[in-house]
Amino acid sequence: MSVPELSPILWRGSARDGELRLLDQRLLPGQEQWVSCKTIDQVAQAIREMVVRGAPAIGITAAYGMVVAAQDGERRQLAGAARRGHLESARRALAATRPTAVNLFWVLEQCRARCEEDVTLEQLLHWARQIHDADVEGNRRMGVIGADRLSQGMGVLTHCNAGALATGGVGTAIGVLTTAHRQGKNIHVYVDETRPRLQGARLTAWELSREGIPYTLICDGMAASLMSRGRIQACIVGADRIAANGDVANKVGTYGVAVNAHYHEIPFYVAAPVSTFDLQTPGGDHIPIEERAASEVTQWGTEQVSPEGAVVYNPAFDVTPNRLVAAIFTEIGEISPVNARSIAKLLSPR
Ligand code: MRU
Repeated sequence: MSVPELSPILWRGSARDGELRLLDQRLLPGQEQWVSCKTIDQVAQAIREMVVRGAPAIGITAAYGMVVAAQDGERRQLAGAARRGHLESARRALAATRPTAVNLFWVLEQCRARCEEDVTLEQLLHWARQIHDADVEGNRRMGVIGADRLSQGMGVLTHCNAGALATGGVGTAIGVLTTAHRQGKNIHVYVDETRPRLQGARLTAWELSREGIPYTLICDGMAASLMSRGRIQACIVGADRIAANGDVANKVGTYGVAVNAHYHEIPFYVAAPVSTFDLQTPGGDHIPIEERAASEVTQWGTEQVSPEGAVVYNPAFDVTPNRLVAAIFTEIGEISPVNARSIAKLLSPR
């Protein structure tokens, strides 16, 4: 029996009266609660506090967020320069939420031109829906391209959550795994719990359970040992930003997975849409890495687990150098080897 597709981002109703609803990912898997965002501040807060998270999902939410901002402008009867100024400050509020996932800035850049041209509410909603739909279709294509690299009976390790909750569709890395599973390849997924926010334990494990994909949840520190025992034949993760040379920013801990995979001669793959590439950033050293609150590390839920005053370093992402990445799967093809030339070749306008 197939399960209903998961969709963590919904627009309900018309451009004028509709509303943006987000599945609150902070509460999963225990509770399925939806949050309504009626102001741009609520949308920005939902992104910052990770009600919605994952690079493509943040971008899609920002697109609908601009519709929310335009609705507010309409209610206040703003027109001309006042309306443009209002939309520009909404764009800035969204840009200030999370710095690493480039999909957010890709969406906001597209929006800039539209807002300068006095776009209507209906046109804005149409554009946001197009961004959402394109991600659904992109996930599907990327899944087919990536699944080609996975063979019967493989053990595949993934880190963080790059599934339906992080995108508009079936997911990037999890989309590849889901496609391989649906093709009957009998894969087994090893899920890193992904400290500190536990996206693997809470979200990826939940998605895989829903889809009936066999998996084993492990603590992050277990992966190298499983590789040495021959249980893992491939690793696949998503990405928050890929520099022009193919260096990949993704959830903190990804670099460690890639180094361990290299040592054990296991291919390390990345699945990401074209909107995750940042050709203006030459290499990983230039990617802005978000640092989050110390409490994410010092607390387990609401319980304090470290001594009062513990000094914490909590970057949300790390960078994996291109030489450790065997291939990147996108919706328009595979990149391998991963370097500036192969990326430019696939992404250059045809
Ligand atoms: O902090 P998060 O949960 O937003 O981080 C998410 C990730 O790192 C994902 O792997 C990445 O965004 C790819 S999602 C398809």
